[in-house]
Amino acid sequence: MDRIERLADLRARVAGWRAAGERVALVPTMGNLHQGHLTLVREARGRAERAVASLFVNPLQFGAGEDLDAYPRTLEQDRRQLEETGCDLLFAPAASVVYPRGQSGQTRVEVPGLSEILCGATRPGHFVGVATVVCKLFNMVQPDVALFGEKDFQQLLVIRRMVEDLNLPVEIVGVSTVREPDGLAMSSRNGYLSADERARAPALYRSLMQAAQSLRQGVAVAEVVRAAMAALRESGLTPDYVAVRRTDDLGPVTEDDVNVVILGAAFLGRARLIDNLSVTRIAAA
Ligand code: PAJ
Repeated sequence: MDRIERLADLRARVAGWRAAGERVALVPTMGNLHQGHLTLVREARGRAERAVASLFVNPLQFGAGEDLDAYPRTLEQDRRQLEETGCDLLFAPAASVVYPRGQSGQTRVEVPGLSEILCGATRPGHFVGVATVVCKLFNMVQPDVALFGEKDFQQLLVIRRMVEDLNLPVEIVGVSTVREPDGLAMSSRNGYLSADERARAPALYRSLMQAAQSLRQGVAVAEVVRAAMAALRESGLTPDYVAVRRTDDLGPVTEDDVNVVILGAAFLGRARLIDNLSVTRIAAA
């Protein structure tokens, strides 16, 4: 598997595949790869003749005071894992390739509404940074299909909406969250947790599971959210938010909504953990 840093080299490689009639799948990442990322790559291989992974710690999606500098960078290990997983190409551009005019001079992509709620409320500008870099990666790689984790559920919806609104010719595939044996969603940021914090971290998944069960039993949304927040606090996590929203657009849930998603974010030590579970409720009589 080759590692390419320059745009001209990337385009030449992809053009060769296209000329041979091969379909191309893209898995965008920020590196420090774990089984969640590698599951996306395996899924990519099943959906196209060629799988490309991108690795770019995108400064545009980090806010002031966030963990851009501390974000784990493990390029050689990532390269090895991608090769073992059957990835065809690693595109790992420098910031000067992605943002040649610097971040402030960069044209941006904004998905209104979806970007300002939930994680976007706590992290202003985050989803503009995500949408902008993903749009650029789509234009650089020109994939037929791109894969994203449901673990970042709001991100997946932001990207789906961007693709729809901008008529981008790429199919978006969401992939189920890959978890540790104790339920904690795999994340590059789990590495920030101390041993004690790591032992507490599955409380997020547990409280969402409990919330999902309550929702299925018909417990009112406000009560479900209150109980989940209390459970997080009891386990020593500091909830950012817990919310129950419509699955298709993260809008507020009415009594008639059957397909809902319960989303949670919580601070634990240096980490901010997120997770979500989709729930099918019993339709109101
Ligand atoms: P990153 O956090 O590296 O995640 C890359 C992809 O892996 C995303 O689609 C994410 O949802 C998926 N992923 C992460 N953990 C997962 C898990 N436990 N199970 C399944 N999928 C998982 O998300 C980003 O990078 C960036 O915002 C990016 C889209 C690359 C834009 O910069």
